[in-house]
Amino acid sequence: MKTKKIIALIIAIIIIAGGISIWLISSNKSNNFNTNNNLNLNASINENVANTEDIGTSSRKKIAIIYFSATGNTKKVAGYIKELTAGDLIEIVPKDKYTDSDLNYNNSNSRSTREQNDSSARPEISNTIDTSSYDVIYLGYPIWWGDAPRIILTFLDDSNLSGKTVIPFCTSGGSGIDASVNYFKNNYKNINWLDGKRLGTSQSEVKAWVNGLNY
Ligand SMILES: Cc1cc2nc3c(=O)[nH]c(=O)nc-3n(C[C@H](O)[C@H](O)[C@H](O)COP(=O)(O)O)c2cc1C
Repeated sequence: MKTKKIIALIIAIIIIAGGISIWLISSNKSNNFNTNNNLNLNASINENVANTEDIGTSSRKKIAIIYFSATGNTKKVAGYIKELTAGDLIEIVPKDKYTDSDLNYNNSNSRSTREQNDSSARPEISNTIDTSSYDVIYLGYPIWWGDAPRIILTFLDDSNLSGKTVIPFCTSGGSGIDASVNYFKNNYKNINWLDGKRLGTSQSEVKAWVNGLNY
């Protein structure tokens, strides 16, 4: 009787041990399967990131030429830059158009003189300018009293140009661009400002400048 009990116990131990072995082997296999799947998934994610990076570095930068022009000189230069870069040409249109008397710099009470004397003046823009898709923006304006017209600051205040490259250009009767660009650099620090240039309205001058830029 005792011998029978011992034999039954041994058989039971063999059955339990066998079951445990089979479970261990099968669970190990499924772990391997999951691990392999994870590896495959990671590989495909990495591939996608690499592809995205490839697209980012190889694609051309998207360019806009955004300008304000009261009497047409800056508009002309902006048109040349458009031809040279194939960028999108966008005009900053004032809600209240500047009349000849508004532009009279001999009158200390003309609209343009009053605006330039008021650092908080932000003349309204009538059109909506969506800059979100552009990497590089040429920003053009005439010099008024040594500076950019206040409507340019309206544009900068209203736009999110963080991290974008902005290249100022201006036309003038002789004054340079540096005062306006220094103001931009000090007051809109999240923009990547290039130094910019005062341009005449000769196409060859504009071409030489644009072709020499590196962005
Ligand atoms: C109100 C006003 C102020 C100006 N101030 C200056 C100035 O300080 N220095 C300068 O060289 N030219 C000055 N100019 C001349 C313009 O900068 C120049 O004519 C410019 O090319 C005009 O550009 P636009 O035709 O695109 O408006 C001024 C013109 C106006 C109307």
